This record gives sequence, C-alpha cells and structure tokens, in this order.
Amino acid sequence: MESHLSPPEKKKRVFSLIQPTAMPTLGNYLGALKNWKEMSELNDCIFGVADLHALTVRPEPAVFRRQSLEIFAMLLSIGLDPEKNIVFVQSRVEQHAQLAWILNCYTQFGEASRMTQFKEKAAAHEENVNVGLFAYPVLMAADILLYNSDFVPVGEDQRQHLEITRDIAERFNQLYGRTFTVPEAYIGKVGARIMSLQDPAKKMSKSDLNPKASVSVLDEPEVILKKFKSAVTDSEACVRYAEGKDGINNLMAIYSCCTGRDFPAIEKEFEGRGYGDFKTAVAEAVIEELRPVRESYLSLMKDSGYLAACIDAGCGKARAIAAKTLAKVSKKVGLLV
Ligand code: TRP
Repeated sequence: MESHLSPPEKKKRVFSLIQPTAMPTLGNYLGALKNWKEMSELNDCIFGVADLHALTVRPEPAVFRRQSLEIFAMLLSIGLDPEKNIVFVQSRVEQHAQLAWILNCYTQFGEASRMTQFKEKAAAHEENVNVGLFAYPVLMAADILLYNSDFVPVGEDQRQHLEITRDIAERFNQLYGRTFTVPEAYIGKVGARIMSLQDPAKKMSKSDLNPKASVSVLDEPEVILKKFKSAVTDSEACVRYAEGKDGINNLMAIYSCCTGRDFPAIEKEFEGRGYGDFKTAVAEAVIEELRPVRESYLSLMKDSGYLAACIDAGCGKARAIAAKTLAKVSKKVGLLV
C-alpha cells in the first residue's frame, strides 16, 4: 500500500465502489475496506455505493433501499472522513448512467461478450440474463472514468473489468484526443484474502450457509469469540505458517492484518502454546479491530438526518466532478450541449 501513498502536493485520485448486498464480512473488511481507509489518509479518494450495479439482480425494493443506506453508513463507520473524501451513492449522480450510455456505443459486443464474470453470472442465473448484466462492465468504466481516477482498488475478480475500462478509455482518447485518465487496477495483496473459518480452502463469504464460517463486521464480541473458538485447524498443535495448514494460515493472516505483526513474529509469540490460546488471541484482536466500526455504525444508524445530509453532500461533490467530464465527452462526440 505504501508505494501508492502520494505526497500531499501531488495526490493520486483513488476510486472504488461497493455493491449494497449483505453486510461486509471480516474478509471484505480486511481485504478491502480497511485498505480504503488507509488510502484515504494520503490520497484524494472517492468511494461509494454501487446501487445501479446491484439492480442487475433485481433485489427486493425495500431490502435493497435499506441495504444501500446501511452500506453507506458502513463506509463512514470504517473511518472515511466525508469532509476530506467524497463518499456518495452512484444512482444519485445521474452522470453515471448518462456516460454509461455513451460508452456503450464505444464498446464492442464481442469484447463485452468475453467478460468471464458475465458468462459465469449468465450461466448461474439463466432466468434473468438481462442487458444490464451484459453492460455491467461499461457502467463500471463510466464510474471510474467520470472522475479521472488514477487507481482503482478492487478484488481479483474485477481485474478483467479494469482491463476493459482501460481499453474503452484508450479507444476514446485515440478517437477524440486525450479525454480520460487511463486508470490502473490496484489489487490487494494475496495475504489479505481471508478464508472461511469452517472450510479454509474457500473464501470467507457473506452468502455461506454455515453461520460459523464467516464473521460479519457487525458481530458482537461474544459471537466473534465463539466463531473463532470453533474455527477449523489441524492436529499438529503448532502455530506456524506452512503448506497444508490452511486453517492456521488463515488465522495467522487475520491476526497479522489486525495487529500488524508478521508471520515470524506471530510464530514466536505462540511458540509452545496451544491452538486454544491462539484462537482466543485472534478473536480478541478481531474484536478490538471491529469494535470502533460497530460502535460508530450503531450510532450513525440512529441519526438518519445526519446520514441523509452526508449522502446529499457527498453526491453534490461527486456530481460537480462528474458533470464536467460528461460535458467534455458530450461535446467531443457531437451531442448538443
Ligand atoms: N463491480 C464491483 C464489485 O462487484 C463494484 C463496482 C462498481 C466498482 N463500479 C465500480 C468497483 C467502479 C470499482 C470501480 O466489486
């Protein structure tokens, strides 16, 4: 992360969105959100809720509305400062949908058809393969390009969408002269990939049917302790990072993310101690890591007026930037502006 922290006089623009589905897990938090917070301290950051993308799976309206608000509150709760950064909601900044339409006309059917995520989602949900799902990466390109973003922190699964964004930007620049900043994906380190506590070969997921497999950022301390106590390990009874010790490796990664200690230091700390001790220590580190997030979230959710004002202000700031880019693009392609 350090390498991308820029000096204040030449801040980099960092942009990313998160979909408003279920509450983030500890995995989402350590793998993404915690890095967003760290990046926000030295970069010019814009983060938000990708509600238009979530619409591709036709969520139940009341649940969807609530989840969008909850995820927005969560972005503030992880410590993003809405005064210093922009935190906003995608659908409330109309330029996203507008630029997406324009960019649809500069994206080939063939290249969009090659997107792995589209093919996978289409195969998994044959009953609703809508055009929005197909155009999903183009909307993502619009999100990113509206803000002249330099870096886009995303998970590995979004790498191809960043590639198509770069292709679209370069193509447009070639045709109409330099218009868009060509963004770079910023993929977190593999170490931050947190696995299921019950099946450490699988990624920790909010949709896991086994409630003991994942920890939510909002879980109460006692619940967190219980889940770690029942985490799957191995029979060696030695805290060390090694192949074949997926459960312990995962707990070590979690402990490392929460305490900043590296693996050798952790091995030393738990030398000659059993897994019981180690699990309790990991649970306590996680509890302390998540405590301020949960407390801030609970108090924010009680203040709907403040939350609404933050959304208005964030969207206002986002719109001011987005409108400039859209006007420039509209003019270049020959729309009447
Ligand atoms: N598709 C992204 C995801 O599921 C979310 C997203 C939408 C996004 N627009 C974006 C991420 C723009 C980065 C930049 O994770």
